[in-house]
Amino acid sequence: MIRNNVEPIYPVCVQPAFIIGTNNKDKTYNFAPASWVSGTEKEEGKYMLVISMTGTSRTKENMMRDGRLSVNLVSRDMLTLMDYLGSKHGEDGPKDDIYYGVGRGKNIDVPTLDASPWVYECEVDKTVNNGVSTTFFCDIRNIQKDINLGGEDQFDVDLTVLDPVIYSGRYHSLGEMLGEVGDFLPDADIIRDAKKEKQNHEEEAQVIAELQRKREIMYILYVWGIIILLSGMALAESTMIPTILGVVMLVVAWVYSFISGANECPYCGTRFEKSGHGTFCKSCGKRLEL
Ligand SMILES: Cc1cc2nc3c(=O)[nH]c(=O)nc-3n(C[C@H](O)[C@H](O)[C@H](O)COP(=O)(O)O)c2cc1C
Repeated sequence: MIRNNVEPIYPVCVQPAFIIGTNNKDKTYNFAPASWVSGTEKEEGKYMLVISMTGTSRTKENMMRDGRLSVNLVSRDMLTLMDYLGSKHGEDGPKDDIYYGVGRGKNIDVPTLDASPWVYECEVDKTVNNGVSTTFFCDIRNIQKDINLGGEDQFDVDLTVLDPVIYSGRYHSLGEMLGEVGDFLPDADIIRDAKKEKQNHEEEAQVIAELQRKREIMYILYVWGIIILLSGMALAESTMIPTILGVVMLVVAWVYSFISGANECPYCGTRFEKSGHGTFCKSCGKRLEL
C-alpha cells in the first residue's frame, strides 16, 4: 500500500449522520444535522453519547441552555430533510419550508423526528470547551427504535435494513453485512501461521549465514596453509620455517573446523554432505543452502 500525506483539514473520515432536536427558548423546536457523534461509558453498563458542536448555532445554544436533546439517526430516506436542516440556521427563523413530522420524547421532553428509525433521548451531563467547539457528554434516557428493525437488543440490528447515512464530507450508504464479531478470527490464525513461517525462514537464513561465515574462515585458513606450505617446500633447502608455518596453519584450519562446527549441521550437529541437488544434513535431512 502506498499512502499519500494529506493535510489534516478534516476529522474522522467515516462519520455517522444524526439530526439533533432541541427546544428553543420560546418552546418551539429546532433540528440540525450533526455527525461528530460518538459514544462512551460513564460507569459499567451506563453509556453516553458524545456530541461536538462547533462555532455558534441554535442547536449548541439550546443544548447549553436547556440541557435536553434528541439525537435522531439519519437513514437514506431522510437525506433531503438533513440537507435542508443543515442549510438553515435556527437563528434565521423556523425551519418549516418543508413538511416533516415531529413528535416528543417518551422520557425527556424533546422534539423527535417521526422519520428517524432510531432516536436517542438525552440529557447533557457535562460539557468540555475546546477552542471554538463544545463537546457535550449526554446521558441516554431512552432509545426509540423502529419496530420493523426487529432484534432483541441494540447489537441485534440489521444495519442494511436500518440503512444509515454515512458521512465523509459526502453522503454514503452502507454496503453489505460482513459478519458477526469473531467471524474473522480464523483468518487471524492463518495470518499468525504465515507470520510464524516468515519468522522461521528469517531464523533459518541467520543460521545459514553464520555457517557460511565459519566455512569461509575455515577455507581461508586452509588455502593460506597450503600456499605457505608449498612455498616452504620450494625454499626447503635454505629454511624450514615456511614449511612449519604452513603445517601449523593447516592444523589450525582443521582444529578450527571442529571447534567452530563449520562442517556440522547447525540443527543437529552431525556432518552434512553436499550432493548434486544441494547440501543436506544426512541425519536430520535439513537443507543447508551452502
Ligand atoms: C452532514 C452534516 C453534519 C454536520 N455535523 C455537525 C457537527 O457534528 N457539529 C456541528 O457543530 N455542526 C455540524 N453541522 C453543521 C450544522 O448542522 C449547521 O451549522 C446547521 O445549520 C446548524 O443549525 P442551527 O443553527 O439551527 O443549530 C453539520 C452539517 C451537516 C450538513
